[in-house]
Amino acid sequence: MPAIVIVGAQWGDEGKGKATDHLGSQVDYVVKFNGGNNAGHTVVIGDQKFALHLLPSGILTPGCTPVIGNGVVVDIDVLFEEIEGLEARGVDTSGLKLSANAHVIADYNRTIDKVTERFLGSRRIGTTGRGIGPTYADKMNRIGIRVQDLFDEKILTAKVEGALELKGQILTKIYNRRAPSVEQTVEELLAHAERLSPYVCDTGLLLGQALDRDEVVLLEAGQATLLDVDHGTYPFVTSSSATSGGACTGSGIPPTRIDQVIAIAKAYTTRVGEGPFPTELHDDSGEFLRKAGWEYGTTTGRPRRCGWVDTVITRYAERVNGVTDFVLTKLDVLTGLEQVPVCVAYDVDGVRHDEMPVNQSDFHHATPIYEYLPGWWEDISDARDFADLPKNAQAYVERVEELSNARISVIGVGPEREQAVVRHALR
Ligand code: IMP
Repeated sequence: MPAIVIVGAQWGDEGKGKATDHLGSQVDYVVKFNGGNNAGHTVVIGDQKFALHLLPSGILTPGCTPVIGNGVVVDIDVLFEEIEGLEARGVDTSGLKLSANAHVIADYNRTIDKVTERFLGSRRIGTTGRGIGPTYADKMNRIGIRVQDLFDEKILTAKVEGALELKGQILTKIYNRRAPSVEQTVEELLAHAERLSPYVCDTGLLLGQALDRDEVVLLEAGQATLLDVDHGTYPFVTSSSATSGGACTGSGIPPTRIDQVIAIAKAYTTRVGEGPFPTELHDDSGEFLRKAGWEYGTTTGRPRRCGWVDTVITRYAERVNGVTDFVLTKLDVLTGLEQVPVCVAYDVDGVRHDEMPVNQSDFHHATPIYEYLPGWWEDISDARDFADLPKNAQAYVERVEELSNARISVIGVGPEREQAVVRHALR
């Protein structure tokens, strides 16, 4: 039976790819259920580094079926770029399954994403510019193009016509841009249709049957809890459901079949794009984290904003997702600090908040209340047992665990697959 969900506990880039990959050999299916090529997983296997944007990281594990679920928005050109890139490096991608109900990112939505950001000026979200938001908006507006539409030119043309009736007006009348023609858009969308068809199926049925056979299904979130369109720091969020609830709607697996939720949290905090970030550091400490943790975006190359760990956020992530296990990544990055601050609560205009403020403007004005724990200098990259970690590193993990309301089962101590301390096996 088991369906396992993996989510990011903070603002993304927590190292989900590595954790998923860690479990990969024990799971039969890895499902991406939300987002699109705005995500970026870096997986290091031996001396090879793989940067994946759209494909589930399970694609690197032989015997594991990678699935792109109905909740994903798919840029077909990027899909084939990634498939070709992996095939060129000897990775077999033929087992990939793609939901017929997933939505497709049309070129006009990439344009709208970029021009909207420019139009918003100081109110911009800092999107990845990949057309994610406008494609989800089309889905909700019921003018989206789905993967299954690509296999009937007549239906596709009618749908593109319908979408462009609105989107064309937005482009020309609001943004003063040229709108693409229906023919041009249809041609672009059809370019890969034939090659796409072997991958396409009813992924909800496929996964339901796999669970009936007692196979293990891993549902991997793109982005993270605080970027979730409902539970994140709205409006500075992505446009999909990145929490464990989204795993159900984005895959067709019901909540009753999920029995484990693993949240990945970095041992500090990072964010890309705009929006509030209470523990953000604008000083040398922030630069230290960025350099030591190599905090530059996998998808956009943007330097990430860095700050100390925030347990108001990890507690919130535990509650929203129903976390059973945390994986704390990049503990090694904190090595060499005299003291390691842990944010335990916020001060908002003189009032202490132990939980995430419901009001976004309070979150914007939140000042972290820190506890300062003693640091460690020893190299921890070879630690494999909790006892191998210096006492101060152990105390740090234990305090973060206590404040986060769920056990920390795995601790990342370096970029390699095997560089991890396992306190409780994830399976
Ligand atoms: P969008 O998903 O491109 O619409 O961008 C919306 C917000 O989510 C922006 O602040 C992005 O920087 C952020 N975002 C999207 N994908 C990721 C990710 O994989 N990691 C971290 N931030 C992301």
